[in-house]
Amino acid sequence: MPAFPSPLSESAIVARLRAAGCVFAEDEARLLLAEARTPAGLADMVDRRVAGQPLEHVLGWAEFCGLRMAVDPGVFVPRRRTEFLVRQAAALARQAAAPAGPADPADPADPADPAGRAGPGGQAPGRARLVVVDLCCGSGAAGAALAAILGQVELHAVDIDRAAVRCARRNVAAAGGQVYEGDLCAPLPATLRGRVDILIANAPYVPTEEVGMLPPEARLHEPRVALDGGADGLDILRRVTAAAPTWLAPGGHLLFETSERQAPRAVAAVTRSGLIPHVASSGQLNATVVAGTRPAAAGGPGG
Ligand SMILES: C[S@@+](CC[C@H](N)C(=O)[O-])C[C@H]1O[C@@H](n2cnc3c(N)ncnc32)[C@H](O)[C@@H]1O
Repeated sequence: MPAFPSPLSESAIVARLRAAGCVFAEDEARLLLAEARTPAGLADMVDRRVAGQPLEHVLGWAEFCGLRMAVDPGVFVPRRRTEFLVRQAAALARQAAAPAGPADPADPADPADPAGRAGPGGQAPGRARLVVVDLCCGSGAAGAALAAILGQVELHAVDIDRAAVRCARRNVAAAGGQVYEGDLCAPLPATLRGRVDILIANAPYVPTEEVGMLPPEARLHEPRVALDGGADGLDILRRVTAAAPTWLAPGGHLLFETSERQAPRAVAAVTRSGLIPHVASSGQLNATVVAGTRPAAAGGPGG
């Protein structure tokens, strides 16, 4: 229900959205009505959606792992499939936090429910807070959701795009996290070298030639730097995997999203960097996650 008498009826909004090709016109109409603060604001939101802007940009938020994340226009909209990356990272973090307890990275526990996860502070007794880094953070949704699931963590996030950094600062604030602007690990504090327990990176991984085939909502409303992963889509991820051993703690984990097709080449890159690879996939979310673990017995940070 809108907070004001609306000159636009719900059915009129549904009809306009449907004519514009919105498949879930009824749901979207209800969300727009609930979000609008004034009749003019509602009309503007409907116009923007009808013109093809992503619903999340019009609303100013996206639901991710059961949480409401701010998403500004021009910032990558967090995808449902990336919840699988967060879930895998949470399972490995729990393993790191409680080495004595068995943990299965394929644990289907609901990431939307923080209850019963890593325990208070996301840490074993006597252990410092887990250090989590979210590279290519975009809105910061993945790192913020992981922090919400784990409880207290030391969260650092990086993006090269100023609009994303501004947006991410709002989302990671609840976790007391820091967001840096710059290229991959370059802006991270040097004190994090060899201390990162979980390094997640949902970097761009669309091959350059396929960017033009993306749906218009992505192609026209998300920045190219958020989508284009180079000739085979793995340019940024190869740089992330090469840098990871420098930053991971012994036994720490790198996790990133790829397509199923890219996974074998991503695994090869992980192996080349000296990390122990692992692939997990979710048919339900059409998601593939490649992980790499720094051997616990490694002498010193490499890469
Ligand atoms: C696919 S989006 C993912 C955003 C976020 N991780 C998520 O899942 O919603 C990729 C992000 O990587 C950022 N990016 C691209 N190249 C980068 C680089 N060299 N260093 C840091 N961030 C980069 C883009 O600005 C974009 O926000």
